[in-house]
Amino acid sequence: HTQKSFYEQVGGAPVFEKLCREFYKQVEADPEFKAMYPEEDLAPAERRLRMFLEQYWGGPTSYQAERGHPRLRMRHNPFAIGPKERDTWLKFMRNAMNTLELSPMHDAMMWDYFERAAHAMQNRA
Ligand code: HEM
Repeated sequence: HTQKSFYEQVGGAPVFEKLCREFYKQVEADPEFKAMYPEEDLAPAERRLRMFLEQYWGGPTSYQAERGHPRLRMRHNPFAIGPKERDTWLKFMRNAMNTLELSPMHDAMMWDYFERAAHAMQNRA
């Protein structure tokens, strides 16, 4: 029998699209957090996050095709990410996840990943 990917199990593209839309709506509404982003237009950043997450959870690999190896820690190095930025990022992501209708198991798996990834991305004291 074939095992469905996490990406498929939670509902595929529309779910990742909604997650990233809800996340970036909050970035857009927070001038202090938004100031960290190099571009005024957040649509390309939203798209990169969406492609990355789809790929990470077993969906299409367009992130890799377009951006190459993720090397996320390296790509975040130009941005000063301390505990405050990390916690804001996680708060936005928790709110975004709350708009999805994930099963408790899928919710726990995704949230656990985001908590670990956000801690790993911290690069300032
Ligand atoms: C890019 C901030 C954590 C995934 C970016 C960018 C900023 C940023 C400012 C540049 C936007 C752009 O692409 O133009 C932060 C902050 C975090 C954080 C403050 C707090 C901990 C994470 C986490 C993930 C992630 C945990 C994944 C789970 C990405 C991806 C990109 C990106 C995929 C685009 C990379 C590329 O291909 O250039 N982030 N990020 N970020 N971030 Fe984060």
